[in-house]
Amino acid sequence: MQLPEAPQKIVSDRDRVMWLVLLFLVFPLSQGISNVDDFLPVERDALIELRETLNSTINLHSIWTGPPCIKNHSRWFGINCLNWHVTSLVLEGVQLSGSLKPDSFKNLTALRRLSFKNNSLFGTLPNFSNHPYLQFLQLSDNQFSGPIPGNFAEIPQLFELQMEGNSLNGTIPPFNQRTLKIFNVSNNLLEGQIPGTPVLQSFPVSSFVGNPGLCGKPLYETCTPSAPTIPITAPPLSPSLPGPPTPFVPPSEGPSKSFEVWGIVLIVVAATLVPLSVMLVFFCYYGRIYRKKSYGEEQENGGSLKPSTRAANKQGHGQPRPGSGPDLDRIM
Ligand SMILES: *[C@@H]1O[C@H](CO)[C@@H](O)[C@H](O)[C@H]1NC(C)=O
Ligand SMILES: *[C@@H]1O[C@H](CO)[C@@H](O)[C@H](O)[C@H]1NC(C)=O
Ligand SMILES: *[C@@H]1O[C@H](CO)[C@@H](O)[C@H](O)[C@H]1NC(C)=O
Ligand SMILES: *[C@@H]1O[C@H](CO)[C@@H](O)[C@H](O)[C@H]1NC(C)=O
Ligand SMILES: *[C@@H]1O[C@H](CO)[C@@H](O)[C@H](O)[C@H]1NC(C)=O
Ligand SMILES: *[C@@H]1O[C@H](CO)[C@@H](O)[C@H](O)[C@H]1NC(C)=O
Ligand SMILES: *[C@@H]1O[C@H](CO)[C@@H](O)[C@H](O)[C@H]1NC(C)=O
Repeated sequence: MQLPEAPQKIVSDRDRVMWLVLLFLVFPLSQGISNVDDFLPVERDALIELRETLNSTINLHSIWTGPPCIKNHSRWFGINCLNWHVTSLVLEGVQLSGSLKPDSFKNLTALRRLSFKNNSLFGTLPNFSNHPYLQFLQLSDNQFSGPIPGNFAEIPQLFELQMEGNSLNGTIPPFNQRTLKIFNVSNNLLEGQIPGTPVLQSFPVSSFVGNPGLCGKPLYETCTPSAPTIPITAPPLSPSLPGPPTPFVPPSEGPSKSFEVWGIVLIVVAATLVPLSVMLVFFCYYGRIYRKKSYGEEQENGGSLKPSTRAANKQGHGQPRPGSGPDLDRIM
């Protein structure tokens, strides 16, 4: 008798547990779904589209399912969330292949970190023009080609940009975000002069090496007019566009050269003036002591004007020049 009752009890207990589980499951889920409907589908759709365009050793199709974010958590591999928004997407060394569309991340506007390091992605780099929070952009060791988009230099909070080990070509945009502390474009096909922005100039040589056409500081290769890229483009361009291309190169070197000359002149002048002025100060001081002696003699001779003349003398001591007229005459 006890045996059949026990299963019944267990069943009823099970039912209760099932109801509780259902309650716990359904309530947060319905809440979650309503929230998802409010503002998440756009981000989920963007990730699903990405999932469909990329191949990988990890099967994204089977692991990226359901909502990507539940409050601050994600069950999706490589995804982190904050307040239902995707803030981080990190898929490193998983043999991702395929190419990204320019607007692949357009609707993932809360991204703080994106890393696809060490994969096999190819094609041009995507657009990050509406990513106010993006701090880490790590796309190194792939097969990306084409230019570095100019608007990378406008990602406002960018802290780390790693794009080494790709096939990027063209010139480096004038990155100058004060936030940018880590930067690497080595081992690409970049060319031309490294822009002279303080931020780019603060990075070491190893951030730029391995780009055969790249020149200018901080690299040791100087950008000479005889560099292969300029003469090849200059002759065919000069007949059609006589103004901009040819004069543009010499003036930029002209002012810098004349500046160098002026710098040398200034240094020479300073080198001769400094000892001279030291001598002058010395003689003035000497002259003043001599004068003081004569003032002392005047004092002995008597008069009520002494304090004021003494004060003037003391003032003159701080600034040798104004009172040194007679002293100068004496030296001469
Ligand atoms: C971004 O979201 C909008 C809806 O807000 C949609 O119309 C658009 O197609 C999405 N774009 C991309 C690239 O996912
Ligand atoms: C992914 O791989 C499969 C077979 O390995 C191939 O048919 C498909 O075209 C690939 N897709 C992409 C986006 O590379
Ligand atoms: C997510 O985390 C942030 C900071 O860690 C916190 O302020 C916020 O309340 C959390 N949101 C949820 C839905 O738990
Ligand atoms: C790159 O990824 C491969 C797997 O695809 C892994 O074996 C290798 O160690 C990774 N390299 C680095 C430098 O992380
Ligand atoms: C990047 O996106 C912005 C705004 O979404 C757009 O104005 C710009 O043309 C895009 N650039 C490219 C290269 O797609
Ligand atoms: C960059 O490479 C592509 C081919 O991958 C080529 O079409 C383009 O002209 C190159 N751009 C520059 C500036 O060399
Ligand atoms: C840049 O990447 C290269 C590898 O391509 C590495 O050797 C170098 O140390 C890196 N430099 C910096 C500043 O991160």
